[in-house]
Amino acid sequence: MTIPGSDEAAIAAGARALAAGDLVAFPTETVYGLGADALSPQAVSRVFTAKGRPPDHPLICHVADAGGLALLVAEVTPDAHALAQAFWPGPLTIILPRSQAVPDEVTGGRDTVAVRIPDHPLALALLEQFGGPVAAPSANRFGRPSPTRAEDVTAELGRSVAVVLDGGPCTIGIESTVLDLTTEPPQILRPGGIGPDAISAVIGRPVSATASGPARAPGMLESHYAPGARVEVVGDAGTALRRADELTGAGQRVGLIAPGVAAGGDGPMILARADSPDDYAAHLYAAFRRADAQGLDVIIAVPPPATGIGVAVRDRLARAAAGR
Ligand code: TXA
Ligand code: MG
Repeated sequence: MTIPGSDEAAIAAGARALAAGDLVAFPTETVYGLGADALSPQAVSRVFTAKGRPPDHPLICHVADAGGLALLVAEVTPDAHALAQAFWPGPLTIILPRSQAVPDEVTGGRDTVAVRIPDHPLALALLEQFGGPVAAPSANRFGRPSPTRAEDVTAELGRSVAVVLDGGPCTIGIESTVLDLTTEPPQILRPGGIGPDAISAVIGRPVSATASGPARAPGMLESHYAPGARVEVVGDAGTALRRADELTGAGQRVGLIAPGVAAGGDGPMILARADSPDDYAAHLYAAFRRADAQGLDVIIAVPPPATGIGVAVRDRLARAAAGR
């Protein structure tokens, strides 16, 4: 059942479903999450079944406030406290040693747990009414792009979800930064909207920002975030248009995501407005889904500059391109 999210009744229905051990999809500022009661092993195991996700891939716990963090971690360290003050609610997930409260099912048996407070009024209202932590991965089938609209969740997971809260399109559009605070220096496992410089400024020392390569969050396969269409990443718009011509000539159905290239004429289909890194992030996953809905064979993408969230967009494009 999809309920327009602004409605009090929808939030109450979501909180009741969580309490009953059912799954609730909800919007965050990054992407839609597929939520379950984080303290219930049975509820959490339903998330893995619904997504088709391997059970050793750990989930992020979403909490409403600092008390929620304190429940889940062994200790709220000074770094964690400072980062929470600076960036929560917001697109930063921190990893710390877990407390006894966290079931193995959430962490895939690891002794650490990932936590964030999402910056979305519906998510916060749901968390407050439910009154406990909600384990939620992105609300897509395993290996697919994260959903940024309620209709994407319903299309992909509809039958396994008790309630889908509809908050419209997500404003950021790609997943949170995942920061491991259990290593020295702290390490960014997944780039997102909050970059290494902002984090360093808060904790007063450098963080390691290996934005690519093998030292990644468990479950972050090279092939993640991939649409059905093949993704080709090229350096600039001129190259993209030439490559599109070539592929179209060879009978392929081609779509384009390229900063500064507008729709029009009989060129390739333009899949997203992508003129700034922020626009690129906001529209990337919907563009992937649109390409699949249109039955395209290839998506040609010119990455945004590596500034701000552009770093995270480039990471997702590289993963999507490695996907098939
Ligand atoms: O923006 C987001 O983070 C979204 C919204 C819904 O909050 N959630 C999300 O969840 O992207 P998911 O499950 O798709 O990605 C969680 C990431 C994975 O890369 C996972 O490996 C990492 O967080 N992670 C979770 N727990 C971890 C742990 N204990 N240690 C290391 N990495 C962990
Ligand atoms: Mg995901």
